[in-house]
Amino acid sequence: MDIKGIDKEYVAGTYARFPLQLVSGKGSLVYDENGKEYIDLGTGIAVNAFGVADEKWQQAVIAQIGQIQHTSNLYYNAPCALLAKELCKRTGLKKVFFSNSGAEANECAIKAARKYGADKKGKEYDTIITLKNSFHGRTITTLSATGQDVFHEHFTPMTDGFVHAEPNDIEHMKRLVKAHKCCGIMIELVQGEGGVTALQPAYVKAVAELAKQEDLLFIVDEVQTGNGRMGELYAYMVYGIEPDVVTTAKGLGGGLPIGATMLGEKADVFTPGLNGSTFGGNPVCAAGALSILQRLDKTVLDGVKERSEYVFRELTGAKGIKSVSGLGLMIGVECEKDASAVIAGCMEKGVLVIKAKQKVRLLPALNISWEQLKKAVKIIKEVCAE
Ligand SMILES: Cc1ncc(COP(=O)(O)O)c(C=O)c1O
Repeated sequence: MDIKGIDKEYVAGTYARFPLQLVSGKGSLVYDENGKEYIDLGTGIAVNAFGVADEKWQQAVIAQIGQIQHTSNLYYNAPCALLAKELCKRTGLKKVFFSNSGAEANECAIKAARKYGADKKGKEYDTIITLKNSFHGRTITTLSATGQDVFHEHFTPMTDGFVHAEPNDIEHMKRLVKAHKCCGIMIELVQGEGGVTALQPAYVKAVAELAKQEDLLFIVDEVQTGNGRMGELYAYMVYGIEPDVVTTAKGLGGGLPIGATMLGEKADVFTPGLNGSTFGGNPVCAAGALSILQRLDKTVLDGVKERSEYVFRELTGAKGIKSVSGLGLMIGVECEKDASAVIAGCMEKGVLVIKAKQKVRLLPALNISWEQLKKAVKIIKEVCAE
């Protein structure tokens, strides 16, 4: 079957796909339709936390499918409750709203901020400050939150109530707080789609302090940075701050769709009817997520740090590489060659990497074997140096 042709004919044309069909895999190895093997450093954009067909994750998911695959939120289900408990235990946050994607997790956080502003200061306190170059999702409201004009094109009018601050410029953020009736600040600590750039720690601390002083909900979007990828459970832990709301998705589900909006005491604003989702908290997705979360222990997190240090050490200053950015296992490589040419060269040699702006982006599985990581890094260096 000509899957590529069928896809081109029938799937909405929103994706510029690589010329590759993935059919199976094990851990960090994936195989295309011709049986060619690749070391996967993209993990479905930071989703397959422990790689492909991970046994423990599979067991958790299959066991739950065998019991009950969906309940709706009209009833209690154990994986949903236990996952929420585990997330709260590990973060100190108080409540979790489950959805199906990063965008939805952020929509919920935006609702929480608006509700908080209205309750505390009045309905007109509805503005949320986000950062230029950020990415928060594809719904109209999360696009409005996204501080990149290119994503707004074709879809105006955007949702009102978002202003965008210059990253790493606290004075600009303060000016915006003064100029608008604000209810929240939402930031990514490492801007992913914006080019894998980590915010400066002093700036992040100052933003957290400002949110506290001005009584704004401080939301950290950990859709991509979360769930072990930074060598801590969440990036905010690396930065030593205490957000009021943490949103996540991607790696939490290990390959099944789940979004989570974790709400601290200040952000515990929801009452029945104020938010909801048919699939949110689905028992199969939650069972898979719980199995992932329970395995993100010190050994795995230390392993992420070691792998990250290795990649930074190997690639920084290597021939054909201008700079290496990011944090943990979310790494951006600025190459002398065009990023697309590097991606194609790596693919040819059996390594899958992806793009973020003009950088090559690496998002390997948290437990990628050293042998596979070393082999992949060697190939990236060869391709960049050619
Ligand atoms: C930081 C961040 N927020 C939100 C999103 C949107 O997530 P989703 O595609 O699951 O809606 C993404 C996706 O790349 C992201 O990186």
